[in-house]
Amino acid sequence: MDKVAIIGAGHVGATAAHIIAQRELADVVLIDIAGGIAKGKSIDKMQAMAIQGSRVTVTGTDDFSAVSGSAIVVVTAGFARGPGMSRTDLLKKNAEVIRSVVAQINAYAPDAIIIIVTNPLDDMTMLAYGVSGKDRSKIFGMGGVLDTGRFVYFISQKTGAEPAAIEAMVIGAHGDKMIPLVELAKVAGEPLNDKLSREELVELADRTRRGGAEIISHLKTGSAYYGPGTAVAKMVEAILQDTKEVLPAAIYLTGEYGINGAVIGVPAVFGRNGMEGVKEIALTADELAGLQEAADDVRTAVEALHGQDA
Ligand code: 2OP
Repeated sequence: MDKVAIIGAGHVGATAAHIIAQRELADVVLIDIAGGIAKGKSIDKMQAMAIQGSRVTVTGTDDFSAVSGSAIVVVTAGFARGPGMSRTDLLKKNAEVIRSVVAQINAYAPDAIIIIVTNPLDDMTMLAYGVSGKDRSKIFGMGGVLDTGRFVYFISQKTGAEPAAIEAMVIGAHGDKMIPLVELAKVAGEPLNDKLSREELVELADRTRRGGAEIISHLKTGSAYYGPGTAVAKMVEAILQDTKEVLPAAIYLTGEYGINGAVIGVPAVFGRNGMEGVKEIALTADELAGLQEAADDVRTAVEALHGQDA
């Protein structure tokens, strides 16, 4: 059985761990500086697995050396944006977390594939890529699968079609500059364009962009975790089961889409070797310009972080 380590036993990490274990994708170790939370949640999960009959083990600890032997390490650790905290404050605080976590993964599980989930997602993925020294096929971020799930859900609500009948994808930033690919979206093989008005399409794209914020506005404290946890499990499944699925993810680009040396969300093939190839799909001029602008933002933010180290 493969082993997956999840760093951060908060709602997103714990939900991802639960789905991975429930589906018997891997043995799971939950690691958190609050060791009691990791331990308590892991015992709770093992009892759930006993009820369900799932034959994997889930353990919880504050001991980072437990990552050793993991095929995949999922990083959810970090601060959430609190009251009065700017995006830059969050960036700085979580950059410290990411630097320390990635250094420890390198020490204990140097061959592991790393999936970054900590926000701001694209910036943290680019930072982690630099710190890790890994090939880009082994380190990338989860954003696009979640945003795509939200887009598909909203299309399904609007058209009445089953999510399984909907082909759609969201690329770009996991943030304000995400790009729901409206022109490429299909429902039962037919262009979404033919079914909805321009206004309705714009509304769907806007609601997708605000998908995370909409949930925060209802929860008041905290943000989404069932969607994010399920999206992590989908990426883990594609990798461990070598499905070769095309999924959008935050990836370090080396010339694709005219972007060189920045992380941004694009589609790629996922399998046992991790990110097995970026897919260059045809975009409209606006979409391409939006993607390049979002990548520039990530590069600028991460360069500013490095500037502060000097
Ligand atoms: C979300 O999109 C906050 O990134 C998190 O729900």
